[in-house]
Amino acid sequence: MEAKPEVSYNFEVVKWFGVMAVVYLVVGTLIGVYIASELAWPALNLDIPYITFGRLRPLHTNAVIFAFGGCSLMATAFYIVQRTSHTPLWSNKMAWFTFWTWNLVIVGAVITLPLGMTQGKEYAELEWPLDILIAVSWLSYFINFVFTIAKRTVSHIYVANWFFLAMMAMITYLHVVNSLAIPVSWTKSYSLFSGVQDAMIQWWYGHNAVGFFLTAGFLGIMYYFVPKQAALPIFSYRLSVLHFWTLIFGYVWLGAHHLQYTALPDWAGSLSAAISIGMIIPSWGGAVNGILTLSGAWHKLRTDYVLRFMIMSLAFYAMSTFEGPVMSIRTVNALSHYTDWTIGHVHSGALGWVAMVAIGALYHLIPRVCNTRLYSTDLVNLHFWLATTGTVIYISAMWVAGITQGMMWRAYDDQGALAYTFVESVAAMHPYYMMRAFGGLLFFSGAAVMLYNVVMTVRTTGSEPAGAGKVEA
Ligand code: HEM
Ligand code: HEM
Repeated sequence: MEAKPEVSYNFEVVKWFGVMAVVYLVVGTLIGVYIASELAWPALNLDIPYITFGRLRPLHTNAVIFAFGGCSLMATAFYIVQRTSHTPLWSNKMAWFTFWTWNLVIVGAVITLPLGMTQGKEYAELEWPLDILIAVSWLSYFINFVFTIAKRTVSHIYVANWFFLAMMAMITYLHVVNSLAIPVSWTKSYSLFSGVQDAMIQWWYGHNAVGFFLTAGFLGIMYYFVPKQAALPIFSYRLSVLHFWTLIFGYVWLGAHHLQYTALPDWAGSLSAAISIGMIIPSWGGAVNGILTLSGAWHKLRTDYVLRFMIMSLAFYAMSTFEGPVMSIRTVNALSHYTDWTIGHVHSGALGWVAMVAIGALYHLIPRVCNTRLYSTDLVNLHFWLATTGTVIYISAMWVAGITQGMMWRAYDDQGALAYTFVESVAAMHPYYMMRAFGGLLFFSGAAVMLYNVVMTVRTTGSEPAGAGKVEA
């Protein structure tokens, strides 16, 4: 894994993917805070159609998942593959092509979603011309990564690359199949599938967007950056390989747990629940593998704030991958589905796991590709506390909100009539929605602090000689 100093890596593109990831984290969480505030104070939609909750919500999910998450995955994959293969990228030009086309997709999303142009499929809202652009951009990323591995100068392919490869292959397949549609104009198309098949394809895609985009890729990040930042070998390489195969095999079967109590056959829901429960094993194996890497060196957490982000992310990974399987059980899902419990689960995974591990990796990577030091480690500490407190406030509010909603909807009076009207359950949410907006504001403030720290760091690019000991952790 150690780099030979004479190899000249293509780090400029990595740097810009990294910087854009931080920019999109700020933008995506700002939109998150706005839509959270709209739910608490609906008048905030100001009667302007472009900024109503319905239009900004998909903009939020696209900004955080594909803009922030995507740029983080691209920065880290291009960084890791070069260092672990001891070779520069197969094609630097192609990496820049990926950079510009991916950013073009994001600009397309920012224009079309507020205008209400959508395919109406969650996490796959963008209309067909943008879908084609996504496929082209993604393939250029995938091909470049594969060919860089092919020309590696070491025999071994480090496990992080396997996680990235699985993500790239699966996302290509999922995106293409789920986006198959018949265009009727430049801005409107209809899915090739209909009815329950459409729902099944959508949630096969939707769950694997979580399983591969938001999990496998980020595990690739974890397997490289946790040992690097800790300057220790991974706790068990054997466990990481086992983690890889069980995770990849299991995740593809789970989509139906999003469709419990629907027109889907019962057996499909039961199968997905059974495998969901089984997924606790690989997920916890992976989390434990990451956390135990610090065995005997826990004191590092006292001073290394970047490492704190990474270890905290693994705690949230363990938590959300325990919660998800529980929610897939039909009796639990009968309570949790349609409620804010799901939103709490999503954000314990998204803020706690995905965002925190990526933030840790970006703090590690950006100074190294700039041959400089981080501008301020105190600001990293401040960011850590804002992000952690914000996440805890957000998800606690949503758990209480979700269970309250679920209980209110199923409460009956003595005559067998519903005890509460729906609007009463909406009114009961007000305090929790205010709390969530506050938690989100803290998380967003942390992201803004990070952007400032990163900009100040990038401004000192080249102030340390390359390979002078700062490049490798
Ligand atoms: C073993 C791991 C996991 C399992 C079995 C699992 C299971 C579930 C279940 C049962 C639901 C609720 C479905 C519904 O009632 O509609 C759900 C929703 C969701 N989960 Fe997980 N989860 C896991 C891990 C994660 C992680 C790590 C993330 C990271 C971000 C995540 C993100 C989501 C999202 C975004 C949704 C909402 C989907 C939607 O309705 O839009 N999950 N998950
Ligand atoms: C300041 C931080 C954030 C705030 C305040 C926030 C707020 C929100 C709100 C209000 C919703 C809509 C909930 C609803 O429909 O009832 C939402 C949905 C969602 N957010 Fe966030 N968010 C934040 C950060 C993130 C991040 C960093 C990610 C991913 C990495 C993320 C992923 C999602 C997803 C996947 C959904 C859709 C959930 C579903 O359909 O079940 N969010 N967010």
